[in-house]
Amino acid sequence: MTRFELQRNFLKSNFVEFKKIRTDKMNGLPKPSSIKAYEPESTIVPLPEVTENVVKKHDIYHLIKNRRSTRFYSQESLTLEELSYLLWATQGISGSTKTGLTLRTVPCSGATHTFETYLFIMRVDGIPQGIYRYLPIEHQLLFMFQLDEIDNKLDAITLEQPFVPNFAKKAAVAFAWSTTPYRSEWKYDVSAHKKILIDIGHVSQNLYLASESINAGACAIGIYDQKMVDEILQLDGEEEFVLFLAAVGRKRK
Ligand SMILES: Cc1cc2nc3c(=O)[nH]c(=O)nc-3n(C[C@H](O)[C@H](O)[C@H](O)COP(=O)(O)O)c2cc1C
Repeated sequence: MTRFELQRNFLKSNFVEFKKIRTDKMNGLPKPSSIKAYEPESTIVPLPEVTENVVKKHDIYHLIKNRRSTRFYSQESLTLEELSYLLWATQGISGSTKTGLTLRTVPCSGATHTFETYLFIMRVDGIPQGIYRYLPIEHQLLFMFQLDEIDNKLDAITLEQPFVPNFAKKAAVAFAWSTTPYRSEWKYDVSAHKKILIDIGHVSQNLYLASESINAGACAIGIYDQKMVDEILQLDGEEEFVLFLAAVGRKRK
């Protein structure tokens, strides 16, 4: 097999192979929760209710047309209303299935929703700097811990950026989406992994468009140090690990 062959095969549909497999779901193994649990005594930060009043630009045509990856940010903070809106737009719960699965503002293969959203908050009004996790059911933030030199740590995580060096550390907030693959593997077995990658693209695109709609800008970040970010976010790196990041800030004029 050539260097690329294995990776290319991963991109192809393996539905025929999948149909021959008895999945963990078929074998009656317990269904994994699509939400990560948390300690009841955790520090919770309520988020403002999301309404369309936060949106500055409503015209979807121009949002799609003008969206660009934004890597130059002003020193301005985002408001908590804006952060609340960005979280809702990327992972917010907007319904449920008859079988109790969550439906969200983004599509997801089989509504398996393998993602958790971690935030490096640098500049959001009314909320201290630190590492947070989004709780989609409650639409709240869970405060995880303060991180000394949070911007420099984010800079180290995002390695040598080819377009604009060190841009991530200047953002107001960075999203780090983890995946817990078993939430999908239970149902889709060897087909899960390609689906997970496609799913995260939808999340990222909603972040881009929602950011544009509040006069902010986002930039996806695929170049990062896997081990470093997993360790900082206290993820085991096997059952749950970071899959993708994105920085958001008010655009520099
Ligand atoms: C999967 C993916 C990974 C990316 N990773 C990075 C990155 O690590 N650093 C960066 O500056 N831009 C990154 N980008 C942004 C792309 O460079 C950008 O989308 C591309 O240059 C096209 O520009 P546009 O988004 O302004 O249309 C990434 C985009 C995607 C979709």
